Amino acid sequence: MKIAILTSGGDSPGMNAAIRAVVRQGLNERCQILGFVEGFRGLTDNEAIEFTSQAVSEIIDRGGTILRTSRFPEFINENTQQKAIANLKNSGIESLIVIGGEGSMKGAHALNKLGFKTIGVPASIDNDVFGTEFAIGFDTALNTVIDVLKKLRDTASAHERIFVIEVMGRKSGQIAVYAGLAGGADYICMPDIPATDPTQLNHIYKLVEKRYQQGKTHTLIVIAEGAGPSFKVSEAIEMATGREVRLSVLGHVQRGGSPSALDRVLASRLGSRAVKLAVAGVSDVMVGMLEGKISKTPLSEVCTRKVVGNQELCELANVLS
Ligand code: F6P
Repeated sequence: MKIAILTSGGDSPGMNAAIRAVVRQGLNERCQILGFVEGFRGLTDNEAIEFTSQAVSEIIDRGGTILRTSRFPEFINENTQQKAIANLKNSGIESLIVIGGEGSMKGAHALNKLGFKTIGVPASIDNDVFGTEFAIGFDTALNTVIDVLKKLRDTASAHERIFVIEVMGRKSGQIAVYAGLAGGADYICMPDIPATDPTQLNHIYKLVEKRYQQGKTHTLIVIAEGAGPSFKVSEAIEMATGREVRLSVLGHVQRGGSPSALDRVLASRLGSRAVKLAVAGVSDVMVGMLEGKISKTPLSEVCTRKVVGNQELCELANVLS
């Protein structure tokens, strides 16, 4: 059986570990494994390579993706999707494994709707894919953020400053809340409430003053990208408190780096399971991790349902701060 893989959308640490798992599990099942470069773009233009076991040597610990990736909004057109299916069928491929985030799962589902078998593997530092508690790359991104929070606390304390730290997540507050809790942030702004909301700002001013009265010499405010613009929040806090505020936008540093042990294990398990399902003829599902077990969720559900923000964790982080 011929199986193809691609990585799509924003890269995330652990994508390479997932590619390795698909290739090695596939070869173990006597399949031929092809990889399309740069996601749905390479699939549409029929740019594929054939994998050997050696081709995935020494990639388990590498960030990024050896297949490269792209954002390819053109894939929303049915004509483009039909072109992709023609390429797959002409190469004798029977199943396509798509490694990526929410948008990539939509691309995978679209191909199924047109009659081609696909399986999704969630990989996104934003951890906003429905059908899995953890997407590949999230844990590594959290470790990057908590490392930065620790460093920023040192300099914030030395100068008695307030730091506003913007973390990734245009629509998702998952990095903000998990890293905020794990890194001991003093306040977390989630994307569902704009951080410049007067009630929230008022709350932050009061918190800052209370902390100074308690003798604390720093305040770390983590803000999800989608709750911004963070420079406005930092300006507003500086104006209201008369204290020095510095803004640190972490940006793409959160997407890079060697994957954590948890991400490598997750990627290995999900990649391997995706191949087993493909060999069994299963399609139109995404593999994931639910309640500690490998799960499969219909892509129709993955594409229509949203991950709800974890209010309980956010409240806990604010209570413990
Ligand atoms: O992959 C998701 C994400 O990390 C978002 O949190 C962020 O807003 C976006 O990617 C940035 O995307 P790009 O690299 O395409 O600018």
